[in-house]
Amino acid sequence: MNSKELKTEVKEFWNNQTCGTWITDKEKYSIDYFEEIEQDRYSIQPEIFSFAEFTRWHGKKVLEVGVGAGTDFLQWARAGAKVTGVDLTEQACEHIRRRLQLYGFTAEDVLVADSENLPFEDGTFDLVWSWGVIHHTPNTEKAMREIVRTLKPGGRAKIMIYHRHSVLAYLFWVKHALLKFKPWLSVSDVLWDKMESVGTKAFTVKEVEKMLATMPVDIIAIKPVLTYYDKLERFNKAMQFIARKLAVLLGGDKAGWFLTIEFNKKK
Ligand SMILES: C[S@@+](CC[C@H](N)C(=O)[O-])C[C@H]1O[C@@H](n2cnc3c(N)ncnc32)[C@H](O)[C@@H]1O
Repeated sequence: MNSKELKTEVKEFWNNQTCGTWITDKEKYSIDYFEEIEQDRYSIQPEIFSFAEFTRWHGKKVLEVGVGAGTDFLQWARAGAKVTGVDLTEQACEHIRRRLQLYGFTAEDVLVADSENLPFEDGTFDLVWSWGVIHHTPNTEKAMREIVRTLKPGGRAKIMIYHRHSVLAYLFWVKHALLKFKPWLSVSDVLWDKMESVGTKAFTVKEVEKMLATMPVDIIAIKPVLTYYDKLERFNKAMQFIARKLAVLLGGDKAGWFLTIEFNKKK
């Protein structure tokens, strides 16, 4: 599959089911629907708050790349940021429009666009936020370069992509390779085929450092976060025990599924 075909598949996948909306059976676009999505998101991903620092970006120009159902986007709007959002899918953009209208907020702009070709001038934003998105696009490095390009000199990026050296990734391999009697498959193979949209990648800290080494940025931190998913919190106690032991073996927080990346664009 070439990169264009892959992107079409990614788009179809997320257009069929906007990210995070599968947890609710409430009427689509109703207030109960959005409230349930928000409640679920921050109860299982509380690390978003300390990483995003939403309220610090009041009055600043913020771009969110890959808005999904718009739960973080709503927080940027609530915090009074001048926020713009893009997503590969029309469904995600529709979620944002409905959501903002329902809660009485406005955005600078919300549009269907590709993270690999952002439709903005160089040096436009104070902050670019992208949570769980650019590992889905075929050319993650190109998307990263676009984030850097659209930042103002001195602007900040806060990004989360998946971490390959993680409890979740290894358990995922056990499920989809070892227990299927295909131990020759790599962790990357099973993530590519089975993790959300086809073509999903996960990176190591070193790979991200190498990617950023060619870009005009000052790295603040590249840090894994041990998540709800690594701890198998939706599973039974025996599974959670195994996950805890594996986490200790792999280095605790260093083996978290979320890889948070924070940097400033050089002035
Ligand atoms: C896992 S969801 C994350 C959404 C949201 N940031 C969140 O945390 O809920 C991935 C999102 O990335 C979007 N996406 C995938 N590839 C993209 C691309 N090349 N450009 C823009 N958005 C993309 C998908 O449409 C989907 O909404």
